[in-house]
Amino acid sequence: MSNNTLADKLRAMDYGPALEDPALAHAWLDQFKRRFGHFIGGRWTAPAERQYFETCDPSTGDKLADVAQGSAADVHAAVKAARAALRPWQALAPHARARFLYALARQVQKHSRRLAVLETIDNGKPIRESRDIDIPLVARHFYYHAGWPQLLEQEFPGYQACGVVGQIIPWNFPLLMLAWKIAPALAAGNTVVLKPAEFTPLTALAFADLCNEVGLPNGVVNIVTGDGSTGAALVVHRGVDKIAFTGSTEVGRAIRRATADTHKKLSLELGGKSPCVVFEDADLDSAVEGLVDGIWLNQGQVCCAGSRLLMQESIAVRLTQKLQERMAELRVGPPLDKTTDIGAIVARVQLERIERLVAQGVADGASCWQPDVRLPSAGLYYRPTLFTDVHPTSVVAQQEIFGPVLAAMTFRTPAEAVALANNTTYGLAASVWSESVNVALQIAAQIKAGVVWVNSTNMFDAACGFGGYRESGFGREGGSEGLREYLQPVWLRKAPSLRRDGSPSRDPAPTGRPLIDRTVKLYIGGKQVRPDSGYSLECRSSKGVLLGETPLGNRKDIRNAVEAARRAEHWSSTSAHNRAQVLYYIAENLSQRGKEIAARLAGAVGKKQASEEVRLGVERLFSYAAWADKYEGVVHSPPFRNVAVAMNEPLGAVGVLCPDQTPLLGLLSLVLPLVAAGNTVVAVPSASYPVVAGHLSQVFDTSDVPAGVINLVTGRPAELLKVLAEHDDLDALWCHGDEATCATAKRLSAGNLKQVWTNEGREIDFFDPHYGEGRWYLQHACQVKNIWVPYGE
Ligand code: NAI
Repeated sequence: MSNNTLADKLRAMDYGPALEDPALAHAWLDQFKRRFGHFIGGRWTAPAERQYFETCDPSTGDKLADVAQGSAADVHAAVKAARAALRPWQALAPHARARFLYALARQVQKHSRRLAVLETIDNGKPIRESRDIDIPLVARHFYYHAGWPQLLEQEFPGYQACGVVGQIIPWNFPLLMLAWKIAPALAAGNTVVLKPAEFTPLTALAFADLCNEVGLPNGVVNIVTGDGSTGAALVVHRGVDKIAFTGSTEVGRAIRRATADTHKKLSLELGGKSPCVVFEDADLDSAVEGLVDGIWLNQGQVCCAGSRLLMQESIAVRLTQKLQERMAELRVGPPLDKTTDIGAIVARVQLERIERLVAQGVADGASCWQPDVRLPSAGLYYRPTLFTDVHPTSVVAQQEIFGPVLAAMTFRTPAEAVALANNTTYGLAASVWSESVNVALQIAAQIKAGVVWVNSTNMFDAACGFGGYRESGFGREGGSEGLREYLQPVWLRKAPSLRRDGSPSRDPAPTGRPLIDRTVKLYIGGKQVRPDSGYSLECRSSKGVLLGETPLGNRKDIRNAVEAARRAEHWSSTSAHNRAQVLYYIAENLSQRGKEIAARLAGAVGKKQASEEVRLGVERLFSYAAWADKYEGVVHSPPFRNVAVAMNEPLGAVGVLCPDQTPLLGLLSLVLPLVAAGNTVVAVPSASYPVVAGHLSQVFDTSDVPAGVINLVTGRPAELLKVLAEHDDLDALWCHGDEATCATAKRLSAGNLKQVWTNEGREIDFFDPHYGEGRWYLQHACQVKNIWVPYGE
């Protein structure tokens, strides 16, 4: 009786297997006799310690190849090869470098099927994804970056490549992460040593083969395989100028600490717990597709996976039901089958981690639901999983699971949605679902994340920067901001080192007749306050003349100042015009009191320097008032029906340790760009003349600076720096000092991975606007958020 109508027939139809042919990939492995050395200096090199490890297909457990385990000696050989290749690579005409990147893009395209299959058998991801997402994006990345070498001189005047770059990548998007790292590094003129993840080394080795095929000069790209110990050896190698890392927050933190005592530039792309915020006016069917893509792409092993679902209460039941119906249709199966939605988990240890965290979620009291989908009998598989009734503090709401597990919560109002979305230590990505563009953009602006997708998810493009806020790391990959991570100002390396004692280099001139004593206080939350300690510090000139006394601030004062800075965060949403107005007003008042301040400052730095500091201080205020409404973002046009709006957002509350040599101008040169960009600041004035805090607090007080936007805490800088660096509620730290001071700032900030920007122990000439102000400062005062907005039907 049944199965007669067309509808019945369609319903009864099942998928037949549609297996991709892996022959070409296996033939390539056979060509190497399934045993790979490192790729160093353009040659396949046996590991120094003759040790290999196996890489396997997680969907079958079959061994694919033996791969070299890298030792410190192997890393050293690779860094040496990269160093030898650096000069010749940089000596090539930009057009020649462009051609190599272009050739790599073409080569990736020519071998795209082989690469897609290799990726799938090594990682376990569905072939549909490696074929249609990973590999096309790899090619796009090399095409995009092939354009940069010829534009560098015009677009980044005065910048040069970092040098030899060490790159460490994870196993979730092996070849794509390689492209994200290698393409910008080479485009900027660096040479690289890259270490792929131990679970998925094969496509990096296949890429090495492509480098030889296009005739890339030997040593420009070196691939050293191995586990975490190989990565650690690369991180500490003295011949490496920059480290770029993608992986777990825990390892990112270790790398921050390991590089603190060095001048290595560092970018970290770490974990996430990204929210998908669905409002009651959303197109729920689209949202369901977005959620599926957001959390079940690559089995949920995605740093920006939409692993937290925040639903408006009124639609929670309906959305949950729709989602469950869709989950029941997901096909978990062999990754090489083109009809598979969810493939294999990369390794047993990862599967066990998922199982452990899910069990903990259940123990925390959340309801766990899984569809009754069939799993293959062998291999590492996990069912798509939905948690509801999740408490925001539950482990499944807070920890990165890196598996196909979605944790759902509800909210009532937009404000509650934002609070829940931001209730995480991470800040990598988010998606917002609403048919109201006003609501969507308003929420997107308030979520603390590097990427926000409106009514879409997991959109990536080489032209658009990607990277995190907070403990999701710092630095960007893609776009011009991604390229900047591989460049540095030429002059900075040549600048003289600061003397270790940090003492002012000029002798003070006689102060003339004594000025009336005035008690300097701390400046916190718009008020002049006495220090918690009740002690004061004498400030004397190098000739021993008493210049004044300043409060001895301590941990409590810094804590109060950070709280005040947090309370003043509305400063970030005041209009740029208003911020400019306040800066102009400070300039007016500084100018009015200029003579008197210069006379006092002269005791510390001499008459000439004092009047220069005041004069240039006023100019600097004008500069940043000008920049406040001119340092703007851009709109990208990625090759989809989207625009990506790249906004320069403030970092938040920032600690600043001010330079000694120029007590007034140095403080203004660091504080003003931060304030112009919408940050709030807790600054520790120089030890050479902390009395400046007293002069400036009066100027700020009379200039309409909202309470808490600028806070000044005097004291012993080394002690206060420690408190600032370890403070978990500060988003960033700018530290100006000698090498040891900068290293301390970097090392102690690893706790919450706050962004640290230092002068690398160099003396910066704040008197010269070329070095003392402008874009270089503003770039460090902001982080870029990309908001992807779709258009069309
Ligand atoms: P991991 O962070 O240990 O590994 C990533 C890369 O770093 C690999 O190449 C590894 O060999 C290397 N590595 C490990 N220890 C190192 C060290 N001390 N110094 C230098 N390099 C080191 O990540 P793992 O163990 O593979 O995965 C654990 C968890 O980390 C996952 O469950 C997931 O939550 C998270 N993860 C996040 C990723 C992301 O893209 N955000 C990527 C991979 C993992």
